[in-house]
Amino acid sequence: MIVLASDHAGYLLKEEIKKFFNKENIIAIDVGCYSREQLDDYPDFAKAGNQKVLEDPRNVGIYICGTGIGMSIVANRNPKIRAALCHDTSSAALARAHNDANVLCLAGRSISPRKAIKIVKVFLTTDFEGGRHARRLKKI
Ligand code: RB5
Repeated sequence: MIVLASDHAGYLLKEEIKKFFNKENIIAIDVGCYSREQLDDYPDFAKAGNQKVLEDPRNVGIYICGTGIGMSIVANRNPKIRAALCHDTSSAALARAHNDANVLCLAGRSISPRKAIKIVKVFLTTDFEGGRHARRLKKI
């Protein structure tokens, strides 16, 4: 399952990603927020996202705030979460292939929906390479 989370600054980009998922018949769960006007706090949504992601090891999260930084800081406080803030498709591919990232963080205020969707596609379709990278993950 794909878990979507954002604060108000990531809300619009989250809606664009949801539109893309609907078009492609990809099922995702949205843990909020539900309005761009809301005066909300990104840690609440990162924590809610983590809770859902950790329900099943096959789950992945996509968390969006203004910069993606706050979401990634909070998400990574949980030792079972490997959240990667990606601004391009190559970092999204490496976040999966080398880091086995289970959460993608995006900057709602600085990337276009078109670019974000490209990044999401790569993140969702790239497998972890294992091998030496698995050894490194064990040391985290
Ligand atoms: C909200 O204004 C903004 O600080 C938040 O979305 C995020 O960018 C924090 O890292």
